[in-house]
Amino acid sequence: MTLIFAHRGFAASFPENTMKSFTEAQKAGADGIELDVQMTKDGELVVIHDEKVDRTTDGKGYVREYTASDLRKLDARYKFQELHKKEQIPFLEEVLNWLKGNSMVCNIELKNGVFPYKGMEEKVISLIRRNRLENRIILSSFNHYSLVHAFRLSPEIEIAPLLTDGIYMPWIYAESIRAKGFHPHHRTLHDSIISLSLKHGIEVRPYTVNNEHAMERFIKLRTSAIITDDPAKGLAIRKAC
Ligand code: G3P
Ligand code: CA
Repeated sequence: MTLIFAHRGFAASFPENTMKSFTEAQKAGADGIELDVQMTKDGELVVIHDEKVDRTTDGKGYVREYTASDLRKLDARYKFQELHKKEQIPFLEEVLNWLKGNSMVCNIELKNGVFPYKGMEEKVISLIRRNRLENRIILSSFNHYSLVHAFRLSPEIEIAPLLTDGIYMPWIYAESIRAKGFHPHHRTLHDSIISLSLKHGIEVRPYTVNNEHAMERFIKLRTSAIITDDPAKGLAIRKAC
């Protein structure tokens, strides 16, 4: 069965990468969530997609130039101002703590491609271990060096490279870095890549699948998971397939 992962939470209807977005994804019945991690000036792991806070909060500037306490003063409601309550940028620890109360999978994307956040892998792994969530986490990144480093530190935690372009025999590439799967941009994914990867025991979880025809196609091809902004739509299509 194709799992439905909520991209940045239920980002189609709620402010991305907030606790509201994650709890709503869970209420909708998603099998997992995807989130993005950046690091503050004082080394705290925070859940936000961009290197800057400008697009998704009422603040300005780089995450890495904020202390965690100043970052937490920002309102992350973004374009969803109709929500009554202000949303904070979550700490990764807060999300992991919440995950302990449910059974969802969590795909943590290490956003260390633009700025090489020093010690990010060590900090993320230490938090996962402290919360005993090793079996429910998938670490992904566009920075594959970072993923290999994470795997060396914690071979018990699954890694999955993010791929923007189609590559030749991605299942062999995944195996070469000891990944159990890969996360390709959905437009690069031919049917044969899915079937051959699955045949080799490598999971395929395309992003970001929001179109219903694409959802149906991946579900019918038994793709391991789809990463979507709209988990409710994905679940409805899976039910109908
Ligand atoms: O994890 C898949 C997807 O989130 C990667 O792209 O830019 O949405 O973080 P982006
Ligand atoms: Ca992401």
